Amino acid sequence: MKVFRKSGIILAAALMLLMSAACGGGGSAGGNGSGNGGGDAQQPGVSQSGQDPAVNKENASDRKITLGFSQVGAESGWRTANTKSIQDAAKESGIELKFSDAQQKQENQIKAIRNFIQQKVDVIAFSPVVESGWDTVLKEAKDAGIPVILTDRAVDSKDTSLYETFIGSDFVEEGRSAGKWLVEQYKDTEEEINIVELQGTTGSAPAIDRQKGFAEEIAFNPKLKVIASQTGDFTRAKGKEVMQAFLKAHKKIDVLYAHNDDMGLGAIQAIEAAGLKPGEDIIIITVDGVKDGFVAASEGKINFIVECNPLLGPQLMDAVRDVVDGKDVAKRIVTVEGVFTSEDAKRELPNRQY
Ligand code: AHR
Repeated sequence: MKVFRKSGIILAAALMLLMSAACGGGGSAGGNGSGNGGGDAQQPGVSQSGQDPAVNKENASDRKITLGFSQVGAESGWRTANTKSIQDAAKESGIELKFSDAQQKQENQIKAIRNFIQQKVDVIAFSPVVESGWDTVLKEAKDAGIPVILTDRAVDSKDTSLYETFIGSDFVEEGRSAGKWLVEQYKDTEEEINIVELQGTTGSAPAIDRQKGFAEEIAFNPKLKVIASQTGDFTRAKGKEVMQAFLKAHKKIDVLYAHNDDMGLGAIQAIEAAGLKPGEDIIIITVDGVKDGFVAASEGKINFIVECNPLLGPQLMDAVRDVVDGKDVAKRIVTVEGVFTSEDAKRELPNRQY
């Protein structure tokens, strides 16, 4: 009797399991009878069972995902556009976003990440203020089993298993684009060309890399000389202040290379206040390509803009879902970007979204 009762219980449990699988009760693999084979190769928008793919996508991510995101701050037009892109994309993809603004301070980001770990979010993403000093907190996230995604800026951790992927621009290449353009402009120069550089936040990946790429390229022409280089912290106010100091300290400034539009725009105010014509008396190169930068370029005040695309939200949300679903995600996702002369900017300005 005992044996019969036991096998009856086992049979009932097996039946319940079978029924819940047939109803799609939470199984992640093979819910439509297709297993894993060819899941990625299916036609866009058409699921293998012919049902609505949104309904049929039996992944872990079909449940509510919570994403903790630590943003650098609100230092520039680029950052504002980036924040909006992330907030909009989260809403659109039904991901609950816990957003934290670090106000350009690493300690605030570390606190925010620890908070997200305590709250047991599904994924943590952040745009690191500076490159170094993340190993400890990233290990804490790893030990808690919470995957981390880097967006916009990289970290210099040797252990790349501490994060899933890094989505963002190639900042060295941006610096190179700026340098290449300048080398071409002055290819026949006989005189020395004095360049001043407004760097981004000290220790941040874009400041380090944009300086590096630019220096690499201008080294091809010994007439091109960086005579002063200082941080403007990626802000308009600091860009203006540092440019004022540059103008006081140096009689002959031919070129300004600003690591972002905002610092370039602040510097333009200082240049105009000094009675000089930006874009003519001083050639100006900036990085980003936000609307205000495009306006200045179309007025001839900025001569060349290297684009840095802030609209990373949709790519981030896709990566979040893929990570939660246990899919393979490329370790590096590079953003595609362009370059713009004043003429290009005039044409492009009406289409600029941010
Ligand atoms: O990390 C991207 C940089 O950060 C942008 O170029 C700058 O505007 C922002 O503050």
